[in-house]
Amino acid sequence: MRSVLNITDLTSDEIDSLIETAGDIIERPEAYSRLCQGKKLATLFFEPSTRTRLSFEAAMYELGGHVIGFSEAQSSSSAKGESVADTVRTVSCYVDIIAMRHPKEGAPLVAAGAATVPVINAGDGGHNHPTQTLADLCTITREKGGFDGLTVGMCGDLQFGRTVHSLISALVRYKNIRFVLISPDELRLPDYVREGILEKNGCRYTETGDLLSVMPELDVLYMTRVQRERNFNEADYIRLKDSYILTPDKLETAKKDMIVMHPLPRVNEISVKVDDDPRACYFKQVLYGKYMRMALMLMLLGIKQGAAE
Ligand code: NCD
Repeated sequence: MRSVLNITDLTSDEIDSLIETAGDIIERPEAYSRLCQGKKLATLFFEPSTRTRLSFEAAMYELGGHVIGFSEAQSSSSAKGESVADTVRTVSCYVDIIAMRHPKEGAPLVAAGAATVPVINAGDGGHNHPTQTLADLCTITREKGGFDGLTVGMCGDLQFGRTVHSLISALVRYKNIRFVLISPDELRLPDYVREGILEKNGCRYTETGDLLSVMPELDVLYMTRVQRERNFNEADYIRLKDSYILTPDKLETAKKDMIVMHPLPRVNEISVKVDDDPRACYFKQVLYGKYMRMALMLMLLGIKQGAAE
């Protein structure tokens, strides 16, 4: 029984194979549509979500399985004071696999310790979000053809953005990647990521507050929103929230084949006018996320891909 709490719980070979499976699902959805017949997924969401929860659910339905769960802590026994460990131990009696999101960093680790089925971390506080990273890696592979030699700009709330932390942890394993970290001073990447991951892996990076000056260098621009729900007082949030707003004119100096990514939800960081630019990839990311979650659940459930042919 194996859980995925951090993107580094998966090897690069496993990630490659998940991306390959996702591609095969896109080509031959019918071959996958009954592979999870009789299986159940529980989505335990102690924190708001649209894409992650619904894409896990859609993923399980598209594999022919069933879904149970809750979408807010208030409608679960945690409102009565039940521990995460007890909730997860209970839910393990009902399902074959669990996807859990929690506002506390490390909660999925506690959950995995108590569960008797695989647990997938669907986001824990400002920490990790491995399945968003799978969506991101699939998007980069399919849109850019691979990772080697890319210059990846990460822009916005690099301090609290868990998708940024997970994506960096994954990308440092590939060759010749260079990061450009674009944020206001207050929202710089935490030391444990900058020193503990980037520097430890000998990765090249620069930090700046100015998106426009680095735009021409980038192959990937990964935008993020300011994470209002994590340790912000309202005045700081208001001051920082519009630090970067991507508009069509700001993209004029960007490479013609740069891709714009965003884990979504966007608030104000990308003007809707950018949506029609062929470089805008954030809704493709959403779709790839569903296929990658299908591939991941098949792997964790030990179901052979394409076996229903
Ligand atoms: C992200 C998250 O929850 O961390 N959303 C998502 O899952 N796609 C990003 C965010 O909330 O800003």
